[in-house]
Amino acid sequence: MSQPILQLKNLIKTYPNGTQALKGVSFDVKKGEFLVIIGLSGSGKSTLLRCINRLHDPTSGQILFNGEDIAQAHGKEVLSIRTRIAMIFQHFNLIPRHTVISNVLMGRLGNMGTLGSIFGFFSKTDKDNALKYLNLVGIGEKAKMRADNLSGGQQQRVAIARALTQNPEILLADEPVASLDPATCHTVMDYLQKVNRELGITIIANLHFLSLVRQYATRVIALKGGEIVYEGDPKNIDDAWFEKIYGAGAKEVHIN
Ligand SMILES: Nc1ncnc2c1ncn2[C@@H]1O[C@H](COP(=O)(O)OP(=O)(O)O)[C@@H](O)[C@H]1O
Ligand SMILES: [Mg+2]
Repeated sequence: MSQPILQLKNLIKTYPNGTQALKGVSFDVKKGEFLVIIGLSGSGKSTLLRCINRLHDPTSGQILFNGEDIAQAHGKEVLSIRTRIAMIFQHFNLIPRHTVISNVLMGRLGNMGTLGSIFGFFSKTDKDNALKYLNLVGIGEKAKMRADNLSGGQQQRVAIARALTQNPEILLADEPVASLDPATCHTVMDYLQKVNRELGITIIANLHFLSLVRQYATRVIALKGGEIVYEGDPKNIDDAWFEKIYGAGAKEVHIN
């Protein structure tokens, strides 16, 4: 059996104000999985992803990335971790007035030397790759447009292309479709699935809707109050399980 790409061991995150966002979370992720994290707002999903790519400092516990503990990494190591573990966000985080292609090239900055990044010297390979990834998410023809002239779904696809230029091993997605309408939601999820299947990139996504979880996840973990309350196959999600996560009387919202 090959080593898991990621192993969390008793991960704890207590914010400086005393909020215990993660109370000892442990799980493994195999290479190539499309793992989905679900849970109510405030259950710790964003904190979890932000600890994994070290946007946040975990309070204690281990995060083994290919066997190496990155939980307490600092300085340059953290920058290297963030290129290998890329992230996309609910609000896309593009630079609105820049072109699509320059937004995508921004993904390369973490891999470049200081001088190159100050002057924006991108190699021909970088530019070719940026276009290749824009084509992969179906918007190569929008390369020269301003990012803020794109629809929400298209902007999220630019963010995916930007993340791919980092050559990541893991892609973290924090509620990637929460700002999109249902139809667009599926388009973006389909591209994430393509990235997972065709490029073999491991995906960990925070999602709200169980119907999307069933459709796209290869495995699901549910968080409640900073603890794991369920881990398993999305096919086994049933009413009892749903109540445990969302409380008695909660109704499943369908999005098709
Ligand atoms: N920067 C912060 N400082 C203090 N508390 C925070 C911070 N970020 C999140 N929290 C708290 O941590 C808990 C988990 O939040 P979060 O990880 O954002 O959950 P989710 O993404 O599932 O909505 C919540 O109680 C939230 O209020
Ligand atoms: Mg969140």
